[in-house]
Amino acid sequence: MGRCALERGARTGQESGMAQAAGSGAAAGGAPGADAGRAALLDRLGRPLRSLRISVTDRCNLRCAYCMPEEAYTWLPREELLTFEEVARLVSVFTSLGVDRVRLTGGEPLLRQDLPELVRLLRRDARLTEVALTTNGVLLEEQLPGLLEAGLSRVTVSLDTLRPERFHALTRRNVHGRVLEGIAAVARAGLPGLKLDCVVVRGTNDDELDALLAFGQQVRAEVRFIEYMDVGGATRWAPGAVVSRAEMLERIGAHSGPITPVPTQSSAPAERFVLPDGTTFGIIASTTAPFCARCDRARLTADGTLFLCLYARQGVPLREALRSGAGPDVLARLVSSAWHRRDARGAEERLALIERQPLARREELREDPRLEMHTRGG
Ligand code: GTP
Ligand code: 5AD
Ligand code: SF4
Repeated sequence: MGRCALERGARTGQESGMAQAAGSGAAAGGAPGADAGRAALLDRLGRPLRSLRISVTDRCNLRCAYCMPEEAYTWLPREELLTFEEVARLVSVFTSLGVDRVRLTGGEPLLRQDLPELVRLLRRDARLTEVALTTNGVLLEEQLPGLLEAGLSRVTVSLDTLRPERFHALTRRNVHGRVLEGIAAVARAGLPGLKLDCVVVRGTNDDELDALLAFGQQVRAEVRFIEYMDVGGATRWAPGAVVSRAEMLERIGAHSGPITPVPTQSSAPAERFVLPDGTTFGIIASTTAPFCARCDRARLTADGTLFLCLYARQGVPLREALRSGAGPDVLARLVSSAWHRRDARGAEERLALIERQPLARREELREDPRLEMHTRGG
């Protein structure tokens, strides 16, 4: 299914000749807001570059079993982390190439000192329509006012369970109450677009789908159920632990009545559905029905490595070029030539495997921390 769409996309991109970088904005030091002439930068499968996820730290204050199950991790050296000015310089290169949405992730992004300062810097780029945040919520209540004041557009909070003791077992930290307070603070502030992301793992939290949907209604958030993925650090992943989209829909339908799909044109990974009582929710079926054919996202690690797929083994190192004085034109060429060569469709390739196991072994992860989901942004 995805295959046909990809092949069609590839032809469209090549035939139309649109695959030229619109890098001229950066190359010419294009002024913010000067995006009128920006053509889409297309990859080999005809997919535009639109969304950039920036991991601002690889550290996390939780240890979710599906993401960070190990006892010890290799962290990125602190001196290699990009400064906020460096991040903003890179982001202006990306926006000159067509990116209009940025999401700050981690690890846990709120562990990065003075994050509102970065939001403020990014907000100066008028080509960005939004600067969003994905957080585990632990530090959200205290940091929300500063983030809102700096111009944060939207928040997504990870919430896998409503039960404190289960949260403790899943994350190895006893801070469930603080996450709920963080969510309540967003609801009180009236920030639109709050989403709650829940990774569904069989035998862990798959009996809470209906309760989580009801909670979402209470706090006016859209709940999104995510299939457990065999990404980077998910060394405990096994096919039997995945609850598929089909199974989730069946279970929710049995409890709440007929489910209607909500049609969407967007490149977002979530498919949306509505229940008879009007509750809408999303499912991100990255494991059984990947969205590679529509994937318009690039990821930047905290040390300035660009990844073009969540599953990519290799990234493009941008930090050295940045620190050796490369200007926007050189950086734009680096990024656009990488995007032109992009043919990644990692989740689809994983789906085609006959025997599917965790993506990386523990030793590989220790040697190359950039393979970790918490390093390249969830
Ligand atoms: P919105 O801007 O709110 O639409 O965000 P989003 O829908 O892009 O969701 P978000 O970026 O928060 O991603 C939600 C989840 O989707 C992640 O936590 C991952 O589990 C999964 N996901 C995100 N990016 C990718 C990706 O590039 N590939 C795959 N296969 N899954 C992804
Ligand atoms: N499967 C699916 N999603 C994952 N995340 C991290 N690890 C996994 C995994 N193995 C995503 C979750 C979490 C976000 C920070 O990263 O959505 O909420
Ligand atoms: Fe959990 Fe997110 Fe931290 Fe991973 S990065 S351990 S998913 S809170």
